[in-house]
Amino acid sequence: MTDSTDSRDKQFPKHVAIIMDGNGRWARERFLPRAAGHKQGVEALRRTVRVAAELGVDFLTVYSFSSENWSRPESEIKHLFSLLRRFVGQDVADLHGSGIRIRIIGERSNLSKDIVELIEYCEDLTQDNSGMTLVIAFNYGARQELAGAVQRLAQEVKEGKLAPADITDDLIAENLSTKNIPDPDLLIRTSGEQRLSNFLLWQCAYTEFVFVSEHWPAFDKTVLARAIEEFQNRDRRYGGLISATS
Ligand code: IPE
Ligand code: IPE
Ligand code: MG
Repeated sequence: MTDSTDSRDKQFPKHVAIIMDGNGRWARERFLPRAAGHKQGVEALRRTVRVAAELGVDFLTVYSFSSENWSRPESEIKHLFSLLRRFVGQDVADLHGSGIRIRIIGERSNLSKDIVELIEYCEDLTQDNSGMTLVIAFNYGARQELAGAVQRLAQEVKEGKLAPADITDDLIAENLSTKNIPDPDLLIRTSGEQRLSNFLLWQCAYTEFVFVSEHWPAFDKTVLARAIEEFQNRDRRYGGLISATS
């Protein structure tokens, strides 16, 4: 994959982030329980990881559980956690075999010890892999992430290790859980909802958003390819003017 980097279209997204939404609606349309939607959602995730790596995406970030998802019924939360456990437990060997590096971002302090150990195991096992990086946002909230960074920096200021004027945007980025991960080029949200829901607020400053109507369990190579094509037709100006070369 890395060899094809140079020959790739300049506009190809290196980092694709996905808000995997609509599991419940997918299930409801089929008169199935929400759990069936989440189960098919895991299949869609497996498919998408494979396809994104094949297409040459370098970083794929997926939103799997938000800080606000704790407000769902306890039975659904339990089910989502068991799916994560199973996904990680069953797929980590395969992902590792395919050279995928796994990073899991989000709050860990309120997770059970066995989940934290599983997370650490996946990250340690795959840290030296050189293929696509799969970033799983689990128990993640962007405002909480930013508040944590501010707290750490404030502590350094208090201890006299840092001057307030040294707090630059680069320093803030280094204190986020996405440290060393480039900002997403393309963000896809499935199921028609057009909002961020507390996902990567800082990192998406210049990300291109594509909203697709398909529910997450129906996501496949065709939908991903269509979103990438839409991205490739966008003109990213970063506050400047339309590039003279186009
Ligand atoms: C996405 O599907 C999965 C999670 C948020 C964990 P939803 O469960 O949000 O499905 P809808 O939005 O109710 O259809
Ligand atoms: C966002 O989806 C979170 C994940 C996909 C994990 P939600 O379904 O929780 O978002 P809202 O409630 O519609 O904003
Ligand atoms: Mg939803």
